[in-house]
Amino acid sequence: MGTKKRGQPDGYPTVAGMSRDQHIGIVKEMFATIPGRYDFLNHLLSLRRDVAWRRFTVRKMRFFDTFRLLDVATGTADIAIEAALMHPKISVIGIDFVSEMLVPGKRKIAGKNLSGRIDLLQADATRLPFPDARFDAAVIAFGIRNIPEKPRALGEMRRVLVPNGRVYVLELNAPQNRLWRKIFAPYLMRVLPGVAKLFSRNPAAYLYLVDSIVHFPSPATFLGLMEEAGFSELKHYSLTLGITSLYVGSKR
Ligand SMILES: C[S@@+](CC[C@H](N)C(=O)[O-])C[C@H]1O[C@@H](n2cnc3c(N)ncnc32)[C@H](O)[C@@H]1O
Repeated sequence: MGTKKRGQPDGYPTVAGMSRDQHIGIVKEMFATIPGRYDFLNHLLSLRRDVAWRRFTVRKMRFFDTFRLLDVATGTADIAIEAALMHPKISVIGIDFVSEMLVPGKRKIAGKNLSGRIDLLQADATRLPFPDARFDAAVIAFGIRNIPEKPRALGEMRRVLVPNGRVYVLELNAPQNRLWRKIFAPYLMRVLPGVAKLFSRNPAAYLYLVDSIVHFPSPATFLGLMEEAGFSELKHYSLTLGITSLYVGSKR
């Protein structure tokens, strides 16, 4: 994967320059090439903050009717596993449209004896294969950034929630504070892609990561998208000096 592609200097076109279909194609291709090192690089590049951010999210979850959680864009199933461990009465379905990403997740689930409580399926976040009002909670961790049709994915998560069910969106963003953004920029632009180059089969994927963080809407804009999708009682938690956000909304 070290060769240049599509005539762009760093492997992938910028997020701003991608068409919807191109973005989806790139995301599918990219995640199919990185599952082997995905967990390791997540922990390394975030100095294990990713574990704390998922734990914070799972701690906020409430189960009151179906006792089911949907983990959208589950990847290697870290949040599904964390939720099953922290909430022993629930069952979890994790979906991802890249089957390769589900392989390490299935292994981890079996290793923790959670196969009876967590199912992983290949499915698309914008066309969820579930009837309405099936889940008490739906979560998407570090996934919405990769979905060009964000309103549609939010709408689908809302559709499958029971009334008063909650959606939890965990996502990286460029810090809003100017000074911190200046300090953080060299890490994001140089250190992160440099380390990824050393360890990943597909370093271009980590340049896409930086680009997709920089292009992600501000917290205020994203909360507006959640409101338009029909969520109320919106909350925003800023984590680790604003490099990550947790957004929570209820189905009216
Ligand atoms: C950065 S990973 C996040 C994985 C996991 N949630 C975590 O916390 O580490 C993003 C995942 O989103 C998945 N994804 C992106 N777009 C998707 C879509 N439209 N439907 C389902 N999965 C999608 C990718 O295949 C990838 O596994």
